[in-house]
Amino acid sequence: MDTVTPVESTSQPLCRLDEIPDGGASAVDAVLADGEENLILLRHGGQVRGYLNICPHTGRRLDYAPGKFLLKNDTLICAVHGATFNRVDGLCIAGPCRGEHLREVALRVEGGEIHLLPGA
Ligand code: FES
Repeated sequence: MDTVTPVESTSQPLCRLDEIPDGGASAVDAVLADGEENLILLRHGGQVRGYLNICPHTGRRLDYAPGKFLLKNDTLICAVHGATFNRVDGLCIAGPCRGEHLREVALRVEGGEIHLLPGA
């Protein structure tokens, strides 16, 4: 699975953990090596996973409205053509890009705030 490298040398604050409902998702903009990108943040308790908001099927965003995602059980469903991704690893398990992954970004939760980590 690809992990995307942010351009900043220090971590970037993205938003507060409590801005995302437990079990829910949100979208935020961040600056990565390739420029500004929109990220999907998926919260589970005190943990958050982050992916580029780019569907591997056609490169479109996965949300049906900005920051609004289709979530079902432990999956995230692309609103465009219905590709279904595991929340925990971004693997597409059903739909037109089955077997491909969302591109993950490295995050850390610190002091109730979600940070995008710089590349190693
Ligand atoms: S763009 Fe996501 S399933 Fe087609």
